[in-house]
Amino acid sequence: MPLVSTTEMFKKAYEGGYAIGAFNVNNMEIIQGIVTAATKLRAPLILQVSAGARKYANQTYLLKLVEAALIESDLPIALHLDHGDSFELCKSVIDGGFTSVMIDGSHLPYEENVSLVQRVVDYAHNHDPYITVEAELGRLEGVEDDINVSAEEASYTDPEQVEDFVTRTGCDSLAIAIGTSHGAYKFKPGQKPQLRFDILEDIQERLPGFPIVLHGASSVVPEYVEMINQYGGNMPDAIGIPEPMLRQAAQMAVCKINIDSDLRLAMTGTIRKQMAENPAVFDPRKYLGPARDAIEAMVAHKIVNVLGCDGKA
Ligand code: G3H
Ligand code: 13P
Ligand code: ZN
Repeated sequence: MPLVSTTEMFKKAYEGGYAIGAFNVNNMEIIQGIVTAATKLRAPLILQVSAGARKYANQTYLLKLVEAALIESDLPIALHLDHGDSFELCKSVIDGGFTSVMIDGSHLPYEENVSLVQRVVDYAHNHDPYITVEAELGRLEGVEDDINVSAEEASYTDPEQVEDFVTRTGCDSLAIAIGTSHGAYKFKPGQKPQLRFDILEDIQERLPGFPIVLHGASSVVPEYVEMINQYGGNMPDAIGIPEPMLRQAAQMAVCKINIDSDLRLAMTGTIRKQMAENPAVFDPRKYLGPARDAIEAMVAHKIVNVLGCDGKA
């Protein structure tokens, strides 16, 4: 099956009360682990590529790996640009074969965010085939690429702005800020993890049927933080979003949940363990193979326990 856009996936997810997992990909093992889990569980899938991933792996390599996944699996898969920061970048990945893009103008003044999204929507929607566009309103705390957004710079999405923003830009989905954040350190030690479900509810009432996206939605699974620390790492007080909260959001208007940090933890913890337990190892397959299995297990866990999209493909 060729790559799909997110239109159909989100429509079914909204109606069915579940969300689609958008997993960040950077290399072959990550792509294989994700696609294997989703295929076994019959889960629709979004593979997303950040600007950093493009720089690291080269867009052509990633595209060809995703093409291989389409040959090996019959799942509906969308290939999405994560945190596109310019019209030119969005245009370039659309021309290259991506089926969905995020244009992230969340750091810009409101009117500038609107015009940037309008420009991308105009190009993407007039493209053949139609390309879906995700925009963002409100600003998440944390690290994305090389940009570090402090707690002071972060801001919740203002529900009063969403109708105007979505109507004027024509975007297909909207990422909102309700307390999630990027990276492994989402809450301070002792702080109780919380999401602003009141904001999500308000937005859902104002835009019935419109797909909402949650970024920064890793749970920072303790098993892997412990594994990293047990085998020579030193990750202080990493705290993520409790999975039941994400499950609740998935049953509401949230149709796309972004997960990267949990995959990084699973991969790194497993590699550290393999290296420590087999000090003579020098064949990369001996630690990248188990790391790929750990990614598969993590994605399977998310599909069943967080997203609820198993059996929906
Ligand atoms: O939101 C950011 C994602 O975790 C991607 O991270 O930009 O370091 O590839 P990256
Ligand atoms: P996490 O850092 O919580 O995995 O978020 C990833 C993300 O939002 C990618 O856009
Ligand atoms: Zn993000």
